[in-house]
Amino acid sequence: MKKNIKYEDLEFEKYIENYKILERTKQISDQINGRYINDEVVFVGILNGCIPFMNELLSNVTIPYKYNFIKISSYSKTESGNIKFELGLSEDDIFDKTIIVIEDIIDSGKSIKFIHNYLSEFNPKSIKVASLLIKEESIGLCDWYGFKISDKFVIGFGMDIDDSFRYLKDIYQKV
Ligand code: IMP
Ligand code: MG
Repeated sequence: MKKNIKYEDLEFEKYIENYKILERTKQISDQINGRYINDEVVFVGILNGCIPFMNELLSNVTIPYKYNFIKISSYSKTESGNIKFELGLSEDDIFDKTIIVIEDIIDSGKSIKFIHNYLSEFNPKSIKVASLLIKEESIGLCDWYGFKISDKFVIGFGMDIDDSFRYLKDIYQKV
């Protein structure tokens, strides 16, 4: 029997199984391997959600690369739309490099647009985006994605609700 996850008054059911996530992530790694042969590639993970996807993706990347992290947070609910940095990068990390941003999920696209603007100021050679999940309306904001999903909240494989459930090996969707 399938076991749903309960949190307060919410319930989540299994949505994408771990083996499918790994299979799809390997395909993305292979595409990156074939595409960037002579570039100075820097993967920039967006904390905290990027960790499981980034770990899996990089374990199958065979070209030389560096990696780094950005951490952003949104202000309180009453001031939605205001994003601030908890952790940023320096020009040395980015200038003239091929940047591949790693996200867990792109929803409205507000965060990734903000990050794109931030990175552009350091004059990278190019900025690409790889996201494990993407919502239909934001598909143009990403160069590689694992799965296109419907507009329901998800948890697991790095994604959280109130910082919990990031550890789940499969992805669960709100019922
Ligand atoms: P956006 O700015 O609306 O595109 O939202 C992107 C960020 O919000 C992601 O990096 C996640 O941290 C978080 N987020 C958006 N949707 C979900 C979800 O369904 N589950 C967990 N986190 C989410
Ligand atoms: Mg995130």
